[in-house]
Amino acid sequence: MPDETTENTVTTENTVTEVTEPASTVEALDAVGRSDSAAARAAEHVLAAVEPKVGVSKPDTILMADGVQRRFGGMTAVDVEHLEVQRGVITALIGPNGAGKTTFFNLLTGFDKPNQGTWSFEGRSLAGTSAAKMARNGMVRTFQLTKALSRLTVMQNMLLAAMDNPGENLFGSLVRPLWSGTEKRNTEKALEILSRFKLDTKKDDFAGSLSGGQRKLLEMARALMTDPTMIMLDEPMAGVNPALVQSLLHHIQALRDEGMTVLFVEHDMHAVRHISDWVVVMAEGRIVAEGPPQSVMQDQAVIDAYLGAHHDTDLGDDSLLDPAVLARLEAEEEKR
Ligand SMILES: Nc1ncnc2c1ncn2[C@@H]1O[C@H](COP(=O)(O)OP(=O)(O)OP(=O)(O)O)[C@@H](O)[C@H]1O
Ligand SMILES: [Mg+2]
Repeated sequence: MPDETTENTVTTENTVTEVTEPASTVEALDAVGRSDSAAARAAEHVLAAVEPKVGVSKPDTILMADGVQRRFGGMTAVDVEHLEVQRGVITALIGPNGAGKTTFFNLLTGFDKPNQGTWSFEGRSLAGTSAAKMARNGMVRTFQLTKALSRLTVMQNMLLAAMDNPGENLFGSLVRPLWSGTEKRNTEKALEILSRFKLDTKKDDFAGSLSGGQRKLLEMARALMTDPTMIMLDEPMAGVNPALVQSLLHHIQALRDEGMTVLFVEHDMHAVRHISDWVVVMAEGRIVAEGPPQSVMQDQAVIDAYLGAHHDTDLGDDSLLDPAVLARLEAEEEKR
């Protein structure tokens, strides 16, 4: 595989010049612009009426967390007083490294237990609910393709995702598939979803042979096998080639456009700004800001959180920052 860094840059004596081809993530995103679907406009409209302040209640809350704390030894990784997630919109959870995003995500999806706190989905308490049960209730998260899953074919991965209890009779059922009515329906459904992600021609390939971007698409495709009302994604863009980022973002927007609720954790601010309808910012375990993407990046608490923890973070679009903030960022830059 060619080294992308050398492919993207031309070095002449003392200068390094960016070459326009192949496209960077930023260019790929700028080419698409923000979605202008009816659902995107509706989301923007309904959220415009919500005050951008931490813990604010939403007009149609699907997921709610209250007093959720998770400690590791003496360190509090998550300390969220109150958070509501609006139904039918794309919410991004951002924050510097170590802010507690993944830990919070794991708590919300039933993969970890908080030391204290309550949280609910569709008004039902989730305390003590397993991830499998959550999926039956309509909330699903994506999984990284583990080594074991890489050795299965794309189709086997899809069928497995549709099973109630993936751990149980995983290999037995795959080795001796019983062509039951359910399996026939699941196979048809899998093919439909795979073709939407342009993975249908790969159905008999080993998942491990897919490219990084195709793996991410398969992770999303797997999650859709359970017909979720809410889908949770942890860094869906991580490690994906810029050329595929656009298509991934397009798929995420399409989920929202079909009425699904999306919550995703992401480091790439450009991606966040392009597809999210609402942004929640974490730092040191707490939520420090929430609001629409255009304004939340200018919030002083957000700038401080990133400056304090992660000086080289690109907040997405310099033109969104006000001159005072830019001057401060530049001053920080010079100090380094
Ligand atoms: N299993 C664990 N045991 C001990 N400490 C942990 C554990 N998981 C996370 N932590 C700590 O909790 C804090 C929050 O980590 P977390 O992974 O949730 O951050 P994050 O916001 O997802 O960071 P990143 O952006 O780097 O993915 C960190 O200080 C981390 O070291
Ligand atoms: Mg993380």
